Amino acid sequence: MSDVSDWWQTSIIDMEPGRIELRGQPIQDLIGNVGFAEMIWLMVRGDRPTPDQLSLFEAALVSAVDHGPQAPSIAAARMAVTCGLSLNNAMASAVNMLGDVHGGAGEQAVELCHHIQGFDGDLGQALDVWIADNGKIIPGFGHRFHKPVDPRAPRLMEMVQEAMQAGACTGEFSQIAQHVEAELANRKQEPIPMNVDGATAVIYAELGFAPPLARGLFCISRSVGILAHSWEQVQQGGRNKGPTPPKYRWTFTKD
Ligand SMILES: CC(C)(COP(=O)(O)OP(=O)(O)OC[C@H]1O[C@@H](n2cnc3c(N)ncnc32)[C@H](O)[C@@H]1OP(=O)(O)O)[C@@H](O)C(=O)NCCC(=O)NCCS
Repeated sequence: MSDVSDWWQTSIIDMEPGRIELRGQPIQDLIGNVGFAEMIWLMVRGDRPTPDQLSLFEAALVSAVDHGPQAPSIAAARMAVTCGLSLNNAMASAVNMLGDVHGGAGEQAVELCHHIQGFDGDLGQALDVWIADNGKIIPGFGHRFHKPVDPRAPRLMEMVQEAMQAGACTGEFSQIAQHVEAELANRKQEPIPMNVDGATAVIYAELGFAPPLARGLFCISRSVGILAHSWEQVQQGGRNKGPTPPKYRWTFTKD
């Protein structure tokens, strides 16, 4: 039978009738003792964060929960509800909008931090190599709406400093990101400040999360806002709401 039992192999959960253990801990010991953010960490990584690591991790999760119906994912969720979809379908529609351009900058910014950390040369050269491979827009910096400053980023970076002082992280990636920010400002001759994706990327990198997990964690965080907006739309009603009020039309381009 081992060809059957070995089909799926996991160190996440062990279970038999009447017993559930997650990462080696009985579920009844976790319930009531472990918060949701710590549970995410435990499930994904298999170990437990220190209290200082946990509060930094939780701050990153809190910071990205919502960015309003201007965000395509939130608008998609609300539109989906007005099309008659249930909450799970609305949430899935929204999460499916999170790609390389919308919601993906955090993963790219962790990759950038790792690239700079491992680069044999100065920061300017490291950035040039990155730009040659990935294009001139540096992930995690700049914001279309929050000018001059994305209010989430300075607060998160303040928390990284506190965590560093408490020994929860080294501050290496925070320093890299600050150097990138300074280099960008120098090159453009105007500030292009770190945004929420840049700051959460610093946190995830400092805490040792692999780049793809930055996107997965962003999806968990943004799902909170997606659920809230979906539910609000359910309560508001509305049928078949498209992206603009119907009196506005697209621009027809004649061939
Ligand atoms: C968010 C974003 C689209 C805003 O772009 P924007 O509205 O054009 O920003 P600005 O008008 O302030 O840009 C001013 C200049 O800085 C450049 N710039 C903006 N963000 C930049 C970045 N991250 N890297 C390099 N250059 C950037 C612009 O190209 C522009 O240059 P130009 O005048 O030579 O064309 C852009 O900053 C970006 O793509 N950032 C990276 C992706 C990211 O982190 N997204 C998550 C946002 S929360």
